[in-house]
Amino acid sequence: MFTAIMAKVFIGVAWPYANGTIHLGHMAGSILPPDIFNRYHRMKGNEVLMVSGSDMHGTPITVTAEKEGTTPSVIAERFHAINKKAIEDMRIEFSLFTKTSTVNHKEVVHDMFKKLMDNGFIYKMPTAQYYCPKCSKFLPDRYVEGTCPICGAENTRSDQCDSCGTTFETGDLKDAYCVHCKTTPEARMTEHFFLKLSAFRDDLMDYLKDKTYWRPNVETFTKNWLKGGLKDRPITRDMKWGIPVPVEGWDDKVIYVWFEAVIGYLSASKEFSKIAGKPDLWKEYWYDKNVKIYNFLGKDNIPFHSIIWPSILMGYDRSINLPYDIPANEYLMFKGGKLSKSRGGAIDIPSVLQRFDPDVIRYYLSITMPDTHDSEFSWEEFQIKVNNELVSALGNYYHRCLSFTKKNFSSIPDKRNGAELAAVTEEIERSVKEYDSYMGNCDFKKAMKVVMDLSRYGNRYFDSKKPWASVKENKDECGEAMNASLQIVKALAIMAWPFMPGSSERIWKFLGLNGTQLDAGLSGCTVPLPIGTELPEPTPVYSKVELPKEEEAKEVKKEAPKETPVISGPFADMRRLDIRVAEIIEVDEHPDAEKLFRFKINVGEERQLVAGLRAFYKKEELIGRKVLVAYNLKPAKLRGLMSQGMVLAADDESLGGNTVVLLKPSKDVPNGTRFTCGLDINGSEIEYKDFQKDVIKVSAIKDGKLTAGGQTVKEKGAPSTAAVVIDDANAILLSDGNGCYAVVDRELRDGANVR
Ligand code: MF3
Ligand code: ZN
Repeated sequence: MFTAIMAKVFIGVAWPYANGTIHLGHMAGSILPPDIFNRYHRMKGNEVLMVSGSDMHGTPITVTAEKEGTTPSVIAERFHAINKKAIEDMRIEFSLFTKTSTVNHKEVVHDMFKKLMDNGFIYKMPTAQYYCPKCSKFLPDRYVEGTCPICGAENTRSDQCDSCGTTFETGDLKDAYCVHCKTTPEARMTEHFFLKLSAFRDDLMDYLKDKTYWRPNVETFTKNWLKGGLKDRPITRDMKWGIPVPVEGWDDKVIYVWFEAVIGYLSASKEFSKIAGKPDLWKEYWYDKNVKIYNFLGKDNIPFHSIIWPSILMGYDRSINLPYDIPANEYLMFKGGKLSKSRGGAIDIPSVLQRFDPDVIRYYLSITMPDTHDSEFSWEEFQIKVNNELVSALGNYYHRCLSFTKKNFSSIPDKRNGAELAAVTEEIERSVKEYDSYMGNCDFKKAMKVVMDLSRYGNRYFDSKKPWASVKENKDECGEAMNASLQIVKALAIMAWPFMPGSSERIWKFLGLNGTQLDAGLSGCTVPLPIGTELPEPTPVYSKVELPKEEEAKEVKKEAPKETPVISGPFADMRRLDIRVAEIIEVDEHPDAEKLFRFKINVGEERQLVAGLRAFYKKEELIGRKVLVAYNLKPAKLRGLMSQGMVLAADDESLGGNTVVLLKPSKDVPNGTRFTCGLDINGSEIEYKDFQKDVIKVSAIKDGKLTAGGQTVKEKGAPSTAAVVIDDANAILLSDGNGCYAVVDRELRDGANVR
């Protein structure tokens, strides 16, 4: 059904800055999609060269190094190692993941720089540059921040706006300030090398003419850039960390990170060729006009790849290949904020992988990836999608087919006259065709949906054949249906492989098949299974996930709504939360969750609560105990059991510990007694997610001050350790207003958060 014409595909993946650990945003935005694409192409018999590496230079690295009081090279090497491993652990298969600090890269950059200079596309010119009079130095890129003149975003960097992607030149930013000392910088003249972008206007127009297949976001952004007029851009910077300028007398400046990082696509291709022992291999990708070059990246990288990089390439050598497609993704938002390591809120890959199998993460990212517009990542939805789709459709289908056949036939059963197989194969063929066209267009979400739909079809087919009945009545007929069912398993294991390689390869083994999905190829979906092949004992490849507590908590924090309270800050937030004293009357284990208890409490009236305390308290320790509960939370189901509120407990996890300790009233007060920080409660029912963590802390108090944060305690007569609500300067004790405070019932680190 496929005509196999071998092709070569080059995939360039945006080089993540080595100033932090890569997170889910990088994965969904620019790293997972190319891996899916790469595997798909190899499965079709094409040859792929896929390269990237750590972007080791530029102010992202030096700013981080200064913050940590170390050198840029320490930072860059540290995160290069972490990120390289994180990428491998996510089962991302690069031909080469290198870094921009190699000698090879420097040589290739120098070669291009000189050639462009010879060709008249790089020239030097005096130019204005931000200069801090107080720090007495030039301030490149991230050393100046200010307000974006286009979208109004504050604290944006002087080279590019994080929010709208606009790139800036010196003087563009409003209310600019030096990040070190907040002084308003002045513009001073200095000399820099410029890339003569203006010379490429017509060529770029030409280049863009047939790019009608580009994603609308990429096409629009690029066309707007061109419309705005192409200005020559400085490509050197006043700093020490970076690739030296290959011109004598330029020792105090380096090449601009963006100019050299994009060259990484070429230098890494050369490096790979050397390693592979075929030093000219890269030419087969960069000069053969039949080769398609794809660049995967996040939207803030668009102009560098759709305008600047093509210009550099054209200025270097008219016959070298330019990017064919630039499937840029939008941002993956984490409940409303951009997932960015430099602005906080990151969900880094190593932590995520400590909890979940990479394939499960890959699944959720595949169905959530921000391909046409920003998308939202939520751990809650992650749990729902994994448990209700991946496990119950695909995983369930795999397992019921494999285990049923293993048990009743122990090998691949006969297809008899092949009627069942033919019918099923028709459906598979239809799916593969659709899948193939989506994958070829980098429409990965849609392709994944085809896979899931096929698994649902499989489940329906299985149900309709009632093999559990036919196995007793007519075993041959049953075998025929199972042969067809297993054909769907095989097709799924191939089609799902680019998305979830690890689990798909296990299914492959459970089918008793030799080789891998790569050997079988996409066309293997419809190739019948070898009848009589012994089946190994299968085990489920996907299992349900349970949300880790801290992830829930992070969402809670992110989702806190912004309102304009009379009193601002944490104290205002606290007014929405109604905290009351309660007594635990009954305790038993949650039937479906090993971490949860079910409580019956008396908080003036009786209520049922669910709490994740089983790792920290024994039943006997809890019965009859007085606790504090969040009284006005909207009732929510926790693993099937209704919880009418939440027990307040402190944990020291953010301090590096892993214990959870209950809060209790320091005196015996009646059930239902309210605890506040002295302000009226204006809380009607609030959502669980609106309950802010980190607002209440448990801290040691000495001489009217918190020992951890140094805030002054607003009330006299404080116990030595108590729960407080803090802002930058003040701390208010939680109390009943009558000398009864919220204290911990076991010792706990100073500064622990209550949630
Ligand atoms: N380091 C840049 C970023 O994280 C991307 C560089 S892509 C490259 O935004 F092609 F220039 F390397
Ligand atoms: Zn300064």
